[in-house]
Amino acid sequence: MHIINPTIPYLGPIPSIQDEGSCISLEGSTPEDAKRFYVNLLCGKSEYDNIALHINPRFDQGAKVVFNTRENDEWGSEKIVNSMPFSQGLAFKMKIIVTANRFQIHVDGREFYTFAFRMPVNRVAALQIGGDVTIHVIDVNEA
Ligand code: GAL
Repeated sequence: MHIINPTIPYLGPIPSIQDEGSCISLEGSTPEDAKRFYVNLLCGKSEYDNIALHINPRFDQGAKVVFNTRENDEWGSEKIVNSMPFSQGLAFKMKIIVTANRFQIHVDGREFYTFAFRMPVNRVAALQIGGDVTIHVIDVNEA
């Protein structure tokens, strides 16, 4: 799947990423006054479905990235990384790579974090992106 310049907020179906080595790549940029943005992998095609992975860079809270899941409308326990690989006003490339039991998140070619699955990755059906971000390219590659 290859999408150019999606309108943000974005919510769209993605092909299966259940096999190890599947990868979601985003090329984007943030505005200079960016506060937060998010990338969600949804277990269904609606914004109310469970979230298997929530990636939430926050420039407005001491520059950190929050990772979480949401099940039956309830957020799970946050994994907080107190370092910020994104810069306000700059372009970035992000990759979410599926391994046997984790999502590996790379930013600008460097591994940033790995998030252990909390729900089966074969349920992931859609990608949602919102907040203070512009996306130029979305690529989803099945392994
Ligand atoms: C909440 C925030 C949500 C989401 C969640 C992640 O405080 O309102 O948007 O980021 O944290 O744990």
